[in-house]
Amino acid sequence: MSEYQGPTRVLSGVQTSGKLHLGNYLGALKKFAALQHEMECFFFLADMHAITVWQEPEALRAQTYNIAASYLAAGVDPKTAVIFHQSAVRAHAELAWIFNCVARLGWLDRMTQFKDKAGKDKERASVGLYTYPVLQAADILVYKATHVPVGEDQKQHLELSRDIAAKFNHDFGAEHFFPLPEPLIKGQFGNSGARIMSLRDGTSKMSKSDPSENACIFLKDDADTIARKIKKAKTDPEPLPSEPEGLDGRPEAANLVGIYAALSGGGDADVLAEFGGQGFGVFKPALAELVVDKIAPISAELNRLEADPGYLHGVLSDGAARAAAIADPIVRDVKKIVGFLS
Ligand code: TYM
Repeated sequence: MSEYQGPTRVLSGVQTSGKLHLGNYLGALKKFAALQHEMECFFFLADMHAITVWQEPEALRAQTYNIAASYLAAGVDPKTAVIFHQSAVRAHAELAWIFNCVARLGWLDRMTQFKDKAGKDKERASVGLYTYPVLQAADILVYKATHVPVGEDQKQHLELSRDIAAKFNHDFGAEHFFPLPEPLIKGQFGNSGARIMSLRDGTSKMSKSDPSENACIFLKDDADTIARKIKKAKTDPEPLPSEPEGLDGRPEAANLVGIYAALSGGGDADVLAEFGGQGFGVFKPALAELVVDKIAPISAELNRLEADPGYLHGVLSDGAARAAAIADPIVRDVKKIVGFLS
């Protein structure tokens, strides 16, 4: 990175494969809103990634608007950041093909997300699901993005993006053409928000595909639903410790404290300074109140924006034009470097 001379640029995206949850908000959207004031930002809707598993076309359209509305409701400003849908900027697909020829099979074989998503029957998984991280590398490098705010689960994909950038630069003797993008994983304080876990099992990540409906808080959940899910959250019988070290070996307690810390803008130590020695009978209602406090305004704004797809479409088309204006010349340079005729 240090030798790369280009501008500092942030890029990230969210798949349009379902409604967003608290993990997506704390791992990604909240960071997007904060970063837009610090650097040039590109935030997109990963609809091409979404179709690596089957999506009903009508549902995909609705989900794309839903995620666009979620970005805006979380505070991302389309006048400041560039917001668009991936499929509208064809440079992503063009660079992805070239990167398919740079990435090695052995690298993709190591990707744990493919193994998790394909499950036991990987023969039946789409080819797109396998090359998913290559498209992700293209998403990032087609803007020569230097920083990528994501949750911890995307760390391995970011390492692959760095490997692809480095191999491209090396193979084509184009020293420092692509930056080696850096993940921005940690929240402002320690690890808060980097990895939000299921409310039913503190060792598995919060995920929309969790079979237990109480495992996951969605941005669209109403106040009663949020309070009920937190009340039912798995915990242990001990009171909260006074120091963060006391959370070791207590994944469910650590997760709830982490959520409180990420939402309140403090660290685990601040939360424990306030709640150390208290039982969950006291902590859970305080947490529910905080989550509702932070999520309810986002949810209300999300519902308002979703009712206006015409406005959202305008935001996305404008963003796509601004994104293509940066990406197209970079792909032109790549094609020349590779040896394609112009
Ligand atoms: P997706 O849609 O699965 O997740 C979107 C973002 O939410 C974060 N996240 C979490 N963070 C904390 N705790 C959790 N439980 C949790 N669950 C999800 C993810 O880390 C992510 O930041 N591959 C990406 C989409 C993508 C992308 C890109 C991201 C496509 N191209 C280029 C960055 C750059 C993904 O799976 O998103």
